[in-house]
Amino acid sequence: MENEKTTIHPSLRTIEWKNNKVKMIDQTKLPRQLVYVELSDYQEVANAIKTLIVRGAPAIGVSGAFGLALAAKNSKAETKNDLIKDLQVAKQILFETRPTAVNLAWGLESIMRIAKEGKDVQKIKENVINAAKNMADADIQINMTMGKHGSELFANNDSIMTHCNAGALATVGYGTALGVIRAAKEQGKKIKVIATETRPVQQGSRLTAFELKHDGIDVDLIPDTAVGYTMARDLVNKVIVGADRILRTGHVFNKIGTYQIAILAKQHNIPFYVAAPLSTFDLKSNPDEVIIEQRDANEVTNIGNKKTAPDDIGVINPAFDMTPPELISGIITEVGIAKAPYEVSIKKLFQES
Ligand code: MRU
Repeated sequence: MENEKTTIHPSLRTIEWKNNKVKMIDQTKLPRQLVYVELSDYQEVANAIKTLIVRGAPAIGVSGAFGLALAAKNSKAETKNDLIKDLQVAKQILFETRPTAVNLAWGLESIMRIAKEGKDVQKIKENVINAAKNMADADIQINMTMGKHGSELFANNDSIMTHCNAGALATVGYGTALGVIRAAKEQGKKIKVIATETRPVQQGSRLTAFELKHDGIDVDLIPDTAVGYTMARDLVNKVIVGADRILRTGHVFNKIGTYQIAILAKQHNIPFYVAAPLSTFDLKSNPDEVIIEQRDANEVTNIGNKKTAPDDIGVINPAFDMTPPELISGIITEVGIAKAPYEVSIKKLFQES
């Protein structure tokens, strides 16, 4: 049955708390192997975020929360004060792993708030672990609600381009941009997905193509350089992507390459949508204050283990870019869809939440 294929399969739960450890899919091994790692302290979680074992803004947010849960569980502190100090050290190390996705700071701050409210060491430990588990479960519900809202924008026989991976693998399950696609499919709409490979880390080919195939959703993979070609030939009629950070002005930070896809979509009159939970919004920063992660040159000079560029050259390898609001047709969230003017509509979404 169509619906059974598109509901989230337990094997694609990206991250969970199990037997007092954090269990997550090792995304560096996909698509060849679907394997899990079990992490027992917050340093291991920090390392998993840094090395992209877990990635995607909402998944990083929940990982940070679980990192603090491990820090609380393992702490030898005997007083509330000492436990909070231990958590603050862990929070800083987790926070410094990746700078752009605001969900990480959101997840860490939410847990720290709960920790500070606790009365004693035992209660704080319990509360922190439960809050992280609840945050993970809520992520799936939020994505499903977002999916319902967003699916109204998509019609039978749509051919939808997506970039990077904003699916179950970028969240705890179901996905943001791919969650909207899943929801449209669950309503019986026939949907085709065009996935960009997303050089240099290949989240599109390694992860998006993998999870869509896993769930029986029709997908064609294209090189990033074929975005213009597919749009010019009417092979795409809508675009949907996720986000790492959305500002109050509607500026969207997402995987490098998103901006040029948005420009090409505008050129071809193709609606360009963004799907993200409220935890991805940063209502305080201005565009020039957002730190864009710069990654290792090897990702560009090599393809896999093979070197494809000469030695001793300069490399520019930003992980994210910024798409301005005038290129965006709508921002889908769990509380509704924001449309231009975004300063007004985003403010309204938060007032209603
Ligand atoms: O470097 P990554 O793989 O963490 O980048 C992920 C993205 O850019 C996603 O599009 C974004 O985090 C949204 S995920 C729902």
